[in-house]
Amino acid sequence: MDYRRQYIRDLFASKAGTQASAYGWVKTRRDSKGVSFVQLSDGSCFQDLQVVIEANVVPEELLKKATTGACVCFEGEIVESPAAGQAVELKAKALTVFGEADPNQYPLQKKGASFEFLREIAHLRARGNTFGAVMRIRSLAAHAVHTFFQSRGFHYIQTPIITASDCEGAGEMFSVTTNLEVNEPLEGEHQGTRMQAYRLKSVSPKEDFFGKPAYLTVSGQLEAETFALGLTNVYTFGPTFRAENSSTSRHLAEFWMIEPEMAFCDLEGDMNLAEEFLKAVIGDILEFGAADLGFFNQRIEPELLKTLEHVVESPFERLTYTEAIKLLESSQVSFEYPVSWGVDLQSEHERWLTEVKIGRPVILTDYPAEIKAFYMRMNQDGKTVRAMDVLAPRIGEIIGGSQREERLEVLEERIKSAGLSLDPYWWYLDLRRFGSAPHSGFGLGFERLLMYVTGMKNIRDVIPYFRVPGSADF
Ligand code: 4AD
Ligand code: MG
Repeated sequence: MDYRRQYIRDLFASKAGTQASAYGWVKTRRDSKGVSFVQLSDGSCFQDLQVVIEANVVPEELLKKATTGACVCFEGEIVESPAAGQAVELKAKALTVFGEADPNQYPLQKKGASFEFLREIAHLRARGNTFGAVMRIRSLAAHAVHTFFQSRGFHYIQTPIITASDCEGAGEMFSVTTNLEVNEPLEGEHQGTRMQAYRLKSVSPKEDFFGKPAYLTVSGQLEAETFALGLTNVYTFGPTFRAENSSTSRHLAEFWMIEPEMAFCDLEGDMNLAEEFLKAVIGDILEFGAADLGFFNQRIEPELLKTLEHVVESPFERLTYTEAIKLLESSQVSFEYPVSWGVDLQSEHERWLTEVKIGRPVILTDYPAEIKAFYMRMNQDGKTVRAMDVLAPRIGEIIGGSQREERLEVLEERIKSAGLSLDPYWWYLDLRRFGSAPHSGFGLGFERLLMYVTGMKNIRDVIPYFRVPGSADF
């Protein structure tokens, strides 16, 4: 057995009369009048292979083991299929059963299991139609991301996962430590005996692994900036972590982010790249993921294909935050969170703008400094910063980015007024001391993009294993 064999995807393209072996997992088996039909999947494509097993071809005792979930290989001949929806099927001559799946215990017996139920058996989700399709699109999208940047002269940088600095300054970081607490022996009459009393004592960060507090990164941006100011155009694509206590359908504690960073680029250039990037990646998925997208269009989100094609073809709307607030204020909608200049936009506001008012993605710029991170470049008005968020219908914020503050004094002031200490940012500030340059970048939440292109409604269903408050199973 070699990985360079034919997959079910390849068998669909082979001619009638070809001898073939089909490896995979049984989705269903149906027996009628001495003939059995098996739907076989190996995950190589959306469609299952129909295997026809005529009477007495395979010993009955063996065929009995080919139940839903079993891992098998059928050998036989590719024949034209009389059934609708498929050109060919496999006429079986022999069967090997690698792994049985007891029908009384295998959890994925029935079709149409709810997404909630599937989350509880996330280790088996890959065998289902929906999750298999999500994962193929996920892989394709990752490839499209690399292709986009690599073909435009961007260098792929792997920024650290463990860090001492809070990129967003929002205090939403997970600690990384080898010792939370130690047992300290207490003095007393039982000292040195088995009755010795102990007190739990926290280890000071100085004694900890890194000699200082360390965290899981919330973003690779700060480190990416250091490489942009040397390699000009770079991007990261890696896991990021947020200890945000939000159990919404759009938040994960561990998610993947793509972060390009460009020297000699202003906010305008940043927006242009973001728009070109989203369109290119969605365009690639439309082209190469058609079979899986067809399923999402039919079963998950009606009009999905039409929407995605529309996104690729039409320019994104661009508005300032101030203009968006005016639109929201005059909308006559009673939002749960009232709108006024200075508030952070909630998902209901973002959705009204993109879905009701504009009907396609919108890029909002120039947000109030108070609601944005310290690294964004201050505008001349002293109130707003050169921020940009790309908002998408159904999803809300999909990209967050900005032109960066490249002026040392202004940046120091911003860090201090955000209530942060300058110390952990000494190297970041050095970039502004030595050869500072205008530069910009953004972050795309990979799972938000996947929700958008698949139409899946819950972010937990577009990542292999989800981490959210109260749950890190598997
Ligand atoms: O807007 P954010 O917080 O921006 C940054 O982290 C910047 N450092 C990026 C940069 O300029 N290089 O996050 C960027 C994107 C969001 O727009 C969203 O798509 C996604 O990351 N995101 C999340 N996705 C899933 N779960 C969460 N908890 C997320 N938080 C942010
Ligand atoms: Mg943001």
